[in-house]
Amino acid sequence: MNNFLKNAVPGVQQISPYEPGKPVEELERELGITNAIKLASNENPLGPSVKAVEAARAVIGDVNYYPDGAGHKLSVALADKHGVDRACITLGNGSNDILELIGRAFLAPCNSAVYSEYSFAVYPLVVQAVGAEARVAKAFPSDHDVMPYGHDLNAIYDSITNTTRVVFLANPNNPTGTWFELEELDLFLSKVDEDVLIVLDEAYFEYMPDHLKPDTNVLLNQYKNLIITRTFSKIYGLAGLRIGYSISHPDVADILNRVRQPFNTNMPAQAAALAAIEDQNHVENSASLNMLGLKQYNAAFKSMGLKYIPSIANFIAVNVNKDAMPVYDALLREGVIVRPVASYKMPRFLRITVGNQQQNDRVLTALKKVL
Ligand SMILES: Cc1ncc(COP(=O)(O)O)c(C=O)c1O
Repeated sequence: MNNFLKNAVPGVQQISPYEPGKPVEELERELGITNAIKLASNENPLGPSVKAVEAARAVIGDVNYYPDGAGHKLSVALADKHGVDRACITLGNGSNDILELIGRAFLAPCNSAVYSEYSFAVYPLVVQAVGAEARVAKAFPSDHDVMPYGHDLNAIYDSITNTTRVVFLANPNNPTGTWFELEELDLFLSKVDEDVLIVLDEAYFEYMPDHLKPDTNVLLNQYKNLIITRTFSKIYGLAGLRIGYSISHPDVADILNRVRQPFNTNMPAQAAALAAIEDQNHVENSASLNMLGLKQYNAAFKSMGLKYIPSIANFIAVNVNKDAMPVYDALLREGVIVRPVASYKMPRFLRITVGNQQQNDRVLTALKKVL
């Protein structure tokens, strides 16, 4: 094994694999229990839109054919939705795929990428895999009065050097649920050199309150170096189908398409995503349920005397006031799967996905018991 590792490219040698949330079946098998719940991967507790499921079913008999590699129908629908040209859209096997494409197309060992402390785990993976330098900007401190653990856009700006090709921003960020204000973003974008690509990762966009949502169209018109990434994995409830996309300047999209696998998004995923964007009721219901769930967690944590990071996403990070790993393990024994975030250098936090009220009650009851 050691020899193989020695032969791996230098960046890959340093990578610690991404740790996904524990699957329900695995826990049930290990403990011989049933009825476990998983609130560990920021999935939608309402499931997918019924219309999306029907659309995926309708094409399943055709999967002897390759999908439309360019995902024409879906790209056109997304372009219409965002009021942009179809050439601005790149489809990905999840938005994770788009992040990888950006790494492959724009990063090399001679240059660097910037992202914040506590930001989404895939950014370091993407940067390391291509051997580029990761420049990690300090986040706001834990005792910051507005946005503890949040992205400090000034620190991110200061971390950019003449080798920097890409900056990753997550708004809201995972695992913190933190966000930045529109004016902060605008000021940041106006300062950064056009040669530096800014990836604005909006995986949780649809959960944001309207007044915090950046205007995609205005931003893209103003800043040609912006790549906005979105996903169908979160509010649209299609994580298992793996589909996401980016909106960018057509020249950037053209470059991403050069490194994209010819058939990176599959046929049922394209069909389901197309139907899902039509079903705005499902999106609204999911956002409302999430808002209630966040309130439920905020109130419960306050009453339990636990500090938490204010979140506008579909998860919340809570400080359990001690090493969170034994708490995570004890919750598993209660049949509740959440996410420890020690790998993000937040060893006293657990990240909990907002479920439906019953699931949230179950997490909170179990948490009270094990603490
Ligand atoms: C901030 C952020 N970006 C991107 C992704 C990737 O999601 P997907 O590849 O399912 O679209 C995630 C998933 O958890 C995320 O939290």
